[in-house]
Amino acid sequence: MKGIILSGGTATRLFPLTATTSKQLLPVYNRQMIFYSLNVLIKAGIKDILIIVAPEHSGQYLNLLGSIFKDYGIHLYFEVQKVPRGLADAFIIGEKFIDNDSVAMILGDNIFEKDFSKEVKNFQSGGLIFAKKVKDPERFGVVKFNQEKKAIRIVEKPQQWISDYIIPGFYIYDNRVSKVAKKIKPSKRGEIEITQVHNYYLKQGELKVSTFQGEWLDAGTFDTLLEAGQVVKEKKIYKNFDPLIEKAIANFNKELKALAKKKLL
Ligand code: G1P
Repeated sequence: MKGIILSGGTATRLFPLTATTSKQLLPVYNRQMIFYSLNVLIKAGIKDILIIVAPEHSGQYLNLLGSIFKDYGIHLYFEVQKVPRGLADAFIIGEKFIDNDSVAMILGDNIFEKDFSKEVKNFQSGGLIFAKKVKDPERFGVVKFNQEKKAIRIVEKPQQWISDYIIPGFYIYDNRVSKVAKKIKPSKRGEIEITQVHNYYLKQGELKVSTFQGEWLDAGTFDTLLEAGQVVKEKKIYKNFDPLIEKAIANFNKELKALAKKKLL
């Protein structure tokens, strides 16, 4: 399975923080936000990961991640998304990269405590997405279940309450997903919505929606960004990182320190 991290966008809600860097490069406790989504994919055994970034931040991504995993068997690829056209655009940008494989796509501002290894390993075809009960469902893609706990409807930011279960930003799809995304017409907010992809597979009877345990945070506002750092610290989520990432970060820091020392000499 391939992995995609969608890390583009201008994040206007976080101005002025995002006037100088990408939202997903802002700190969440002791590391940049993007390491949390990288961790989900790497922990699940995914080795080929495409990171989609905005043009103005591409240099910063390369500085941080360009060589960090080169000794650890993880291959990172980068694509520049010139205009943020919606989440489903990631499957179009990533079409050649996905090739004949399935794909796990994660949003770079979503932080999960859960380990998705089993789900990734057991995935065969169709789509697998997740659901979490929250207090403010109107901010998200919302799923309605019937009495048998089967998903029957998914609506992007519903104006009227339909359910407390929302769809967090981690999606597993088979390789038909790029073709499906290409057929989507832009919504009122001018985006090709991921919800349309979910609904396509749901109508085909090929979508599984699974609830899960553990923390989930979308660090896209001042409050949730702060909360993400606090939760990561309190629940020691940073200690659950794949050892490979820890080694890569430690090595990166070592190289930086050596450089800093040379400059002082
Ligand atoms: C996006 C998706 C939404 C999903 C959310 C998770 O919302 O459109 O379906 O629930 O991410 O973070 P956005 O961040 O674009 O408002």
